[in-house]
Amino acid sequence: MRSQFLPYSLPTIGEEEIREVVDSMRSGWLTTGPKVRRFEEEFAAYVGARYAVAVHSCTAALHLSLAALGIGPGDEVIVPTLTFCATANVVIHLGARPVLVDVNRHGLMDLDAANRALTPRTRAIVPVHYAGQACEMEEILQLAQRHGLKVIEDAAHAVGAEYQGRRIGSFANATAFSFYATKNMTTGEGGMITTDDAELASRIRRLALHGMSRDAWNRYSQTGSWYYEVLEPGFKYNMTDIQAAIGLHQLRKLDGFICRRRELAGFYRRRLADLPELELPEELPGRRHVYHLFPIRLSTTLNRSRFIDELKRRNIGASVHFIPLHRHPYYSNDPANQVTRFPKAERLYEGLVSLPLYPSMSDPDAEDVVEAVREVVIQNRSESASQLMPLTLEGACR
Ligand SMILES: Cc1ncc(COP(=O)(O)O)c(C=O)c1O
Repeated sequence: MRSQFLPYSLPTIGEEEIREVVDSMRSGWLTTGPKVRRFEEEFAAYVGARYAVAVHSCTAALHLSLAALGIGPGDEVIVPTLTFCATANVVIHLGARPVLVDVNRHGLMDLDAANRALTPRTRAIVPVHYAGQACEMEEILQLAQRHGLKVIEDAAHAVGAEYQGRRIGSFANATAFSFYATKNMTTGEGGMITTDDAELASRIRRLALHGMSRDAWNRYSQTGSWYYEVLEPGFKYNMTDIQAAIGLHQLRKLDGFICRRRELAGFYRRRLADLPELELPEELPGRRHVYHLFPIRLSTTLNRSRFIDELKRRNIGASVHFIPLHRHPYYSNDPANQVTRFPKAERLYEGLVSLPLYPSMSDPDAEDVVEAVREVVIQNRSESASQLMPLTLEGACR
């Protein structure tokens, strides 16, 4: 058994990021400035979008995108139930209503459920590229077009993911990315909005900084001007140059990170495929999965809490992504969110476990995970068999 605890996720930070942060600290410019601008340009080029606006989280990115697209009181926004609470919470902050819908067995929004949830008040749809695999964007965009809906992609897990040979980032009206510490690339906390719409990008940029016409760099730097105007009441969501200093180097390393994530996922797949108690994540055609997560589904013969505890006892961390939103008190209090409306998410959630997966994991780390998982599954088999034995014998004696 390994002697050190292996967390389910860890950031991969190198000397380049550290040097760049120190450079920002020494430069005297800490907040939004030239490094944020450079990060935005390089990120937009990487995902193939015209514009990118850096902000301090994906939550902020989702909030700003919906706000800038005019979502407000009386509107309904379709959100899959299997996501982090941020996806739906921001809809509520705008006075609109998140309409939760079921997901398919891959954890991606169920489009039949989305269709059934449409009402005359539906204004937008927020597909989540769960675990790092793109949703069926073609069908989502067709649905949106048929019903005049805005589409905001929640790509918190999906930087670098591809759909039909194109990187996620320019399919929808706006795409929101996360650079939280566990994500495929990080800035500690951070996020980005990408779009091909110049007007939308400029409104998002303005709303990210109090609705002001000029940011600090454009006021306080040598080329700036002191004058600014507040054009609308915005938020304080801007990214700092310290965050961008980390992001610039993480972005350069991203393809290598993804490559390692895919390698580790392939290893898990090969070494766990023979266990019928486990359903492994499937790669759908026409996508490039970037494995932010490796969520497995346990069969009903395994108890999920016990499985996670047993892994922990073997010094392997694991987590669950996600407790579906309709199960959280705030959302379950709404009679529209009865569990019976989400049969597929319920079935998936019951056995859902995310195994450790991140670029700095070594081959022996991955081997330890596989060994621990196999041990727990096989131990459970023998325990189940010994529980059944007396019954069988009793039956035979009658
Ligand atoms: C699907 C999803 N959406 C949004 C977010 C929010 O991201 P952030 O922490 O950058 O605000 C997360 C974060 O875990 C997430 O998993």
